[in-house]
Amino acid sequence: MTKLVAVVPGDGIGPEVIGEATRVLDFYRSERRLPIELWPLDLGADRYLRDGVGLPAEVRDRIGRDAAAVLLGALGDPRLPGLEHAREILFGLRFGLDLYANVRPIRALVDRLVPLRERSRADVDLVVLRENTEGIYAGIGGQFKRGTRDEVAISEDVNTRRGVERLIRAGFEYARTHRKRRVAMADKSNAMRHAHELWYRVFFEVAREYPEIEARHSYVDTMCLHLVQDPAQFDVIVTCNLFGDILTDLGAALQGGLGMAASANLHPPVRGCCEEPHPPIRVALFEPVHGSAPALAGKDVANPLASILTVGMMLSHLGWPEEETRLEAIVAHAVATKHCTPDVGGSLGTRAVGDWVLRELAASFT
Ligand code: IPM
Ligand code: MG
Repeated sequence: MTKLVAVVPGDGIGPEVIGEATRVLDFYRSERRLPIELWPLDLGADRYLRDGVGLPAEVRDRIGRDAAAVLLGALGDPRLPGLEHAREILFGLRFGLDLYANVRPIRALVDRLVPLRERSRADVDLVVLRENTEGIYAGIGGQFKRGTRDEVAISEDVNTRRGVERLIRAGFEYARTHRKRRVAMADKSNAMRHAHELWYRVFFEVAREYPEIEARHSYVDTMCLHLVQDPAQFDVIVTCNLFGDILTDLGAALQGGLGMAASANLHPPVRGCCEEPHPPIRVALFEPVHGSAPALAGKDVANPLASILTVGMMLSHLGWPEEETRLEAIVAHAVATKHCTPDVGGSLGTRAVGDWVLRELAASFT
């Protein structure tokens, strides 16, 4: 069965880095004969400005029905400062396809990328599972008396038992299948008594079903401290949408910056708590963690390695895990030998890094 991969290049540096990632995918399709078909989608700021289209419901539904994966570039454009198109597309995919687990590996591939003194890549090897369909991102709230001295702004933090439990379970399942010993949960249950007491309680309830895994709770502020002091104490972190967003930018700094951070938005089959939708959700969304960096757009300076690592996560998800390992090794080698962009210590441009990766990739099969 051919796997359909929708490609949304995005805004700013998105088209350049997704362009290199797409060349990698295309190499697998044409040279390695992997059964992949690419489906380019014209969505993003230009389209939104041109004809007011963000993410049409029929496109989202067709993705849910027919696509195996989506490769998404960053969204954000100075011509749309309210980011309405970005939210419509990104949240339309994350929420609309119920991709409740945002899996963000924090792995330093080369010692030089670790910014901490006396730490090496062996110390930075963890993964954050970020709840991806609710929390403060639900967009519930409103403004009252806007623009007056009495104005009120409210954003509600939505935490459902089902949403919290399935994400926590996905974290423990991830640890079990990846042979990781420890799962830590970051919340703020000391201050957010209602919502995060739920997280706290469900975390330790679920943990009882995984006696071989050490379950530890941290307040999120303390976890930030610990991640910088000693990242080696973490294997798997589970947390809510907002804290996952923040922790994974901190995590990106530990792995060499945003140019090295990949992510997957998944709907792992839920075991033991809530009913699965029919038909089951198979599609997954893959995106580099970084933003659209409009100031760097079109200059051939953006680091494409995060997008290439993201393709690795996609190939693994589609059933070719050895290709993720291969791409990771090539990316590590690119950084180690300085065949990379200046943010990670090289002097090549975006396209030249892509060329180098493609040459290495082809050579790795001979
Ligand atoms: C991310 C980004 C997004 C988020 C923004 C662009 C809305 O920061 O994917 O980490 O907050 O989820
Ligand atoms: Mg973020």
